[in-house]
Order: sequence, then structure tokens, then C-alpha cells
Amino acid sequence: MEKYIIKGGQPLKGEVEITGAKNAALAILAASVMTSETVTIENLPDEADTNVLLGTINEIGVFTHRTDRHTVRVNAAKARNFPIDNEGIKKIRASYYLVGALLGRFKRAKVVLPGGCAIGLRPIDQHMKGFAALGASCRIEGGSVIAEAKELHGAHIYLDVVSVGATINIMMAATMAQGQTIIENAAKEPHVVDLANFLNSMGARIKGAGTDVIRIRGVERLHGTEYAIIPDQIEAGTFMMAAAVTRGDILIKGVIPKHLESISAKLKEMGCTLTEHDDAVRVVCNDRVHSTHVKTLPYPGFPTDMQPQITVALGLSAGVSIVTESIFENRFKYIDALTSMGANIKVEGSSAIISGVEKYTGAHISAPDLRAGAALVLAGLVAEGFTVIDNIHFIERGYEDFYMKLRDLGATIERVEDDGSEQKFRLQYA
Ligand code: EPZ
Repeated sequence: MEKYIIKGGQPLKGEVEITGAKNAALAILAASVMTSETVTIENLPDEADTNVLLGTINEIGVFTHRTDRHTVRVNAAKARNFPIDNEGIKKIRASYYLVGALLGRFKRAKVVLPGGCAIGLRPIDQHMKGFAALGASCRIEGGSVIAEAKELHGAHIYLDVVSVGATINIMMAATMAQGQTIIENAAKEPHVVDLANFLNSMGARIKGAGTDVIRIRGVERLHGTEYAIIPDQIEAGTFMMAAAVTRGDILIKGVIPKHLESISAKLKEMGCTLTEHDDAVRVVCNDRVHSTHVKTLPYPGFPTDMQPQITVALGLSAGVSIVTESIFENRFKYIDALTSMGANIKVEGSSAIISGVEKYTGAHISAPDLRAGAALVLAGLVAEGFTVIDNIHFIERGYEDFYMKLRDLGATIERVEDDGSEQKFRLQYA
């Protein structure tokens, strides 16, 4: 089994280039099946989740061709609305975007229920409510979501919870419905806006993405396009937090600083120095960080996908911090591992009460999910001694070249596949 082994203690210094946003890429890849013309997608991250989705759309007859590592050409002229069910797609959350995309184009979709990180219940009732409002009959049967309609018509839909997935899914189906759809209480995340921009570049008529009211005028057909995906807000945030955790100095390049505001604000409260450029941000942290309180919220609030990383940073602060998770009910599963490294954290309900400690010590731990896994790597980078992290397939779902980028910043980290290589690393860096 692949794992990371880390010798902690090195402040990270240097420059890192951010890749395309995973969660935007997944929505955009799904939406690319909605036209029979060729779509060229640039800045596509080369990660497990995006590659699984590419493989899955191949299976329903979509032609895909990577012209280079980060560019893919997609032609869905021969796509069919076959039932979608394979081992890979069961594991990723974004499989459900194919429901909205196929329902929009073919007026019928059958897709195996979504998996993804086990961070909470993750119901899909708001997606189904939206499809039903557009005139589809929608049910869960035999482990799959089935949605079908003679025709889709525009509707006024109020989301009971702010859901990224439901906003994206309804937006895709409504793009090819007759008449106007209004989504109220819509999610405002950067990847919702990116998908709207992508669909508009294919001829869709979507207005208001990025606000909580999105208006969509249905169109009969979409055409081909060339489109570059936005940079990954969470990958950038993870490297920003790596500077805070390791007391480093990192220039994070190829980002949209506006998307990082909530993270930047917290880092400033924690005593780090930030310098913003047009498409880069530099984070310098020379001292022990200050404690602060954090509550995760939908965008533009502090992202739930950054909650484990900031907890790792605050675990080393001078003082007591409270981190409250308000989006997913089961996103503190990494705290046990962090405690085994010396952190002093108690979880009470949806809050983690963190009494900062002076140092972490290396341990053999396991990544419980994608973002928590990345956060534990950050803990290992600053811990005394060696840290071994199992289940790194979770991390590699959504971070391209993670350990190599860390190594370029001065981290002592290796990806090993057997005990022999682990021992070799230990001897080399003893
Ligand atoms: C997306 O998940 C992201 N995944 C998640 O990223 C991210 O954590 C999350 O948005 C929040 O930003 C993808 O984009 C593929 P939601 P999603 O629907 O769409 C409740 C990562 O690490 N809800 O915005 O599944 C839900 O339970 C991942 O990259 C309903 O009640 O999240 C949650 O409490 C993990 N009914 C809240 O809404 C519904 O029908 C927000 O969930 C849908 C959601």
C-alpha cells in the first residue's frame, strides 16, 4: 500500500504553482457531454477524481483526448444516456453531475448513487427537488438515481440549504429546459461561477452566478467551446496554511486572490504576513501563530474544505482556538490522529476546542479523507521525527503532485510502496 513518509522540521520556502480547480473541473467535464460539438478544456487537473470521470464519460461513448497533461478535447456526438455505474464512479461525489447533464441533454439519466469523502450524511434531496420542479420524475431505485422527463420546463426553485452540488446540477438541467428557471438561495462558490461561465461560452443564458439568485433562460442546443478552468482555491489555501504550520515563506502562484480572502483574513489574524499580487499571494510566518476562532460557512465564508488544515495550524498556536464546522457533521475524524501527534484538541458537538501545543511529534497515522489527509501531511511536515501516513489515495484524489510540490518547497517527504523503501528513508534521514 502506498504511503507518505515525512521527516518533519523543515520550514517550507519557495514558489508553488496551483493547478486547475478539482471541483470546477468535475462539473465542467460532466457539462461537456451536453453538446455534440467539440469542447476543449484547459487547466484540467491530473488527479484521480477527474480521471475517473473522464473514464466514465468514455464508457457512454464520449470521445476524449488529452492533448497535453492539462488539456483535454471532448466530443460527445456519439454519447448515449446509458446507465452509469462502475467501481470508480461509485467512489466520487461528482458522479451526480452526470444526472443534471444527461437529463438536460437527453431528458433521461440513470446514475449510480454518489460516494465521495465520508464527511457526513450528504443527502441529495435538494437535487431531486430541483429536477422535479423542472418537470422530471425522479427516484432512487436499486442504488441509482433515475431522472426522466418528456420535456423540462423552467421553474422557480428555492433551495432549503445552500448546496454547491444542487446548484450546479439544477443549473445544468435548466440550461436545456424550456423557459426561465430561477434558483434562489443558490451557492456562490467560485466553481459555481466557473461552470456558469463555461455553459455560457457554449451558448447557455445564465445570469447571476456568484450571487444567491441565478436566472437561467433555457436554450435548445449548446455548441462547442474552448475554456480554461479556474485555479484551485483549496489547493492554494492548503499551501498557504503550510506556510503557517511550518513557519515558512511561500509564494503561491497562478491563483485568484479574491477567492482566497477568507483564508487570507484568518492567516493575518494568526500573525502571518501576506502580500497579494495580481495572480499570486505570498505567505510568510516567522513566529508561533496566534490563536483565533473559525466557523466554516458557504462561500464567501471560510471553506469547510480548509477546516482540517487551519485546525492543524491552530493546534500549534499560543492560546485557545475554537473551530466550528457548520457544513458537514462528520469532519473531525482526523482529530484522533492529530492527538496521537501531541495535539490538545477536544471535540464538542460541531466544535473543536484547541489548546495550542508547542510541537507535534511524528506518528504512524492514516488519512481519513481528502482534506483531512492533506492536513495531516502538514502536521507531519512540522512534527519532530518521522510521520507515516497511510491511505494516501484519498489525498491523491484531489491534489496533483502533492508530495512533489512539497518537496520542491524543501519538505523531506517520500511516497513509498513497501516497508523496505520506508526503512531506507528512515536510515537516510535518521
Ligand atoms: C461540494 O460538495 C464539494 N464537492 C465538497 O468538496 C465541498 O466540501 C462542499 O461542496 C461544500 O463546499 C464537489 O464539488 C464535488 P453541498 P457537495 O451540496 O456539493 C447539505 C472536497 O474535499 N445538502 O454544498 O456534496 C449537505 O449535507 C469536497 O473537495 C442537503 O441537505 O456539498 C451539507 O450539509 C468534500 N441536501 C450542505 O448541504 C442536498 O440535496 C452543503 O453540501 C445537498 C446538500
